[in-house]
Amino acid sequence: MYPLRRNRRLRTSEAIRSLVRETIISPNDFLVPLFVVEGKGVKEEINSMPNYYRYSLDLLEQEVKELWQLGLKSVLLFVKVPDNLKDNKGTEALNPNGLMQRAIKTVKNACPDMLVMTDVALDPYSSYGHDGIIENGIVVNDATSEVLAKMSISHAQAGADFVAPSDMMDGRILSIREALESEGFINTGIMSYSAKYASAFYGPFRDALDSAPVDMVDVPKDKKTYQMDYANRIEAIRETEMDINEGADIVMVKPGLCYLDIVREIKNNVEVPVAVYQVSGEYAMVKAAAEKGWLDHDSVILEQVTAIKRSGADIIASYFAKDVVKLIS
Ligand code: PBG
Repeated sequence: MYPLRRNRRLRTSEAIRSLVRETIISPNDFLVPLFVVEGKGVKEEINSMPNYYRYSLDLLEQEVKELWQLGLKSVLLFVKVPDNLKDNKGTEALNPNGLMQRAIKTVKNACPDMLVMTDVALDPYSSYGHDGIIENGIVVNDATSEVLAKMSISHAQAGADFVAPSDMMDGRILSIREALESEGFINTGIMSYSAKYASAFYGPFRDALDSAPVDMVDVPKDKKTYQMDYANRIEAIRETEMDINEGADIVMVKPGLCYLDIVREIKNNVEVPVAVYQVSGEYAMVKAAAEKGWLDHDSVILEQVTAIKRSGADIIASYFAKDVVKLIS
């Protein structure tokens, strides 16, 4: 008797396909990255990220209300810092009335139940475009960790629910956890960018925040001494396990699509939620191909976020969050 099993039976109609579907995308899966700028009434499209914007605080308020209506309940904040406020030590990051601190309050005022996560790294504040302090041509580790811990306290004081260190310094999760505990922020969480690779896919993001490493002598040209080598897999597990031991509540793999093998492996190895960041370059590629008519935008983004979730992501940070949620509602 040939064939005994016909796998196509389970694919014959949409009804049976949806009955046996293993991975379902919902608004609960998403973390929405938001870019914030100074000013009033500002909604600027980012050049290399079509249909994605930087918002001034007044329009940020509208945007988060719209996200909430759509069922998107978590945001990840990034700020574009004016050049005159940048320095080597990221001093402005600690300003209690800085743009990030005001952005946190704005979101919490507009939508008190919205989960607010904040990016913790020096690059938007650094005159050199690096995630840490530079001394003698080197991004120094421990002094940077200290600033990141203070920055985390400042975000917690402004009302952040989670801080998200994206810098890849060694030991920073422990410094941040200890600082939060000692200041009484026992319920402020840490989502650690644990396995963050030195990736060319961050290009459009650096346009968005004007935060790329500057071309100067004694300034490293890239972030390869702190972000991971994309050829490595086992190292990602070590980084992630260390972050969990240091107190990370959620771990992250970044970028997304090229790194789904890492996501699956980490998901199989750890007992905390795993987040994946589908980064700016991944967004830009789809937009560009769709603009040319070479790919079907909506189908491609649904396929991509489903693949990310299937690979083991519990949380997806994505610039497509709003588009996807509209498509599935
Ligand atoms: C900053 C930071 C970056 C991203 C998130 N946080 C850029 C970088 O490390 O250079 C990238 C996000 C994206 O590309 O969408 N530490």
